[in-house]
Amino acid sequence: MTDRELIEVAKEAMERAYAPYSNFKVGAALITDDGTVFSGSNIENISYGATNCAERTAIFKMVDAGYRSFERIAIVSSKGDVTYPCGICRQVISEFAMDSTVIFEDKDGQLIKIPMTQVLPYHFEHDDLRQ
Ligand code: THU
Repeated sequence: MTDRELIEVAKEAMERAYAPYSNFKVGAALITDDGTVFSGSNIENISYGATNCAERTAIFKMVDAGYRSFERIAIVSSKGDVTYPCGICRQVISEFAMDSTVIFEDKDGQLIKIPMTQVLPYHFEHDDLRQ
C-alpha cells in the first residue's frame, strides 16, 4: 500500500470519528511489516479526559490483533492540513514503532513524511526503567 493510499484509509476512518464536543475529527491508519492495515478515529467523551485519540485507537486495535510493531502511520484531521500527534500518542507510537515513518498531508495535498525519531526524540524507553 502506498503512502497516498494509507492517507486515504486514514481519511475514511476520520469520517467515523465520534467528536461531538470538539467537532475536530482525526483519522489514523497504520501498516504493519506484513502489510496489514489498521485504522482508527478519535472517540470523545462527555468526561473530556476519557477521550481516545485516533492514533491510539488504531494502535490499540493493532496490538489487540496480536501485532507489536508497524512501519508507517498516516494521520489526517478535519482541519485539512498537517496535524501532529499529541504527546501521549507520540509516546504510544514510540512503544511499538520508533523506526516508523509518520505521514501527513498538507493543505495543498502534498505528502509530508517525518521519521518517528524526529517526531519524538529522547523518548522514554524500556532501558530507562533500569536503575
Ligand atoms: N486528537 C487526536 O485524535 N489525535 C491527536 O494526536 C490530537 C488530538 C483528538 C482528541 C480530541 O477528540 C480532538 O482531537 C481535539 O483535541
